[in-house]
Amino acid sequence: MAVVKKVVLMLSTVSLLSYGILTQAAGDPVKGKDKAAACTGCHGEDGNSLAPNFPKLAGQYADYTVKQVNDFLHNKRADPIMSGMAATAGSAADLADIAAFFAIQKTMKGVAVKSKKALQGRTLYLKGDQKRGVYGCVNCHGKNGKGMSKSNPYFPVVGGQHKDYLVKTLRDFKAKTRRNDPGGMMADIAVKLTDAEIDAVSEYLSGL
Ligand code: HEC
Ligand code: HEC
Repeated sequence: MAVVKKVVLMLSTVSLLSYGILTQAAGDPVKGKDKAAACTGCHGEDGNSLAPNFPKLAGQYADYTVKQVNDFLHNKRADPIMSGMAATAGSAADLADIAAFFAIQKTMKGVAVKSKKALQGRTLYLKGDQKRGVYGCVNCHGKNGKGMSKSNPYFPVVGGQHKDYLVKTLRDFKAKTRRNDPGGMMADIAVKLTDAEIDAVSEYLSGL
């Protein structure tokens, strides 16, 4: 726990420095609504996409959305579809407006799955596995998977996200094909998870 707190503190400092959050202007969600037309075809009118390979953006922290799009833009994160779409967000100000629009939509929510697998996923989410050095996800993603707070927006909302996308992105972290996480902190955890655990925790999270 103490270690996690230290990591969290470290991340906050790293975030402030490397993403310039102190100087970043907040976007305008009203202006963002029209600009988001470039995105809603895949991510849904209100950021609640229907297809499970298109992540939901509804209620996601604006700074997190901005970071991810910039990561795609600068090849720090790659995807055959999204890498090409990142530039369609327009200028930095346009992107901030779009992110602000998605941020104020009704936060993504799933339908709880009552399976043995989801229960195992819940235990992993809340407690981790101390023996293997797996920190409980709750420490960074919050009690209901809705992240920490607006003041710490680099810990994303993951509860209520599509299961297929969660499985894919956790596997990407594990395989290190996704390596845009600050300090490699998600990869450090994902490499310790079995595919069955990734499946279980994703089943639980998608239902929050
Ligand atoms: C043609 C479909 C398509 C369009 C249009 C599109 N995206 Fe995406 N987007 C994707 C896919 C697919 C992914 C998942 C990539 C992956 O699996 O790593 C993604 C991922 C993302 C993510 C990462 C989400 C997360 O939880 O990490 C963000 C943020 C994002 N898109 C924002 C946007 C914005 C903003 C626009 C409009 C400027 C946009 N996208 C347009 C398909 C699209
Ligand atoms: C020490 C803090 C920490 C812990 C513990 C942690 N995460 Fe994360 N997680 C992060 C950070 C930071 C990111 C954002 C990475 C980035 O900027 O791309 C993230 C990203 C993610 C994402 C990708 C979200 C998206 O759509 O882009 C998923 C899914 C995720 N975490 C699931 C988990 C699960 C499941 C666990 C537990 C097994 C876990 N995390 C434990 C810090 C943590």
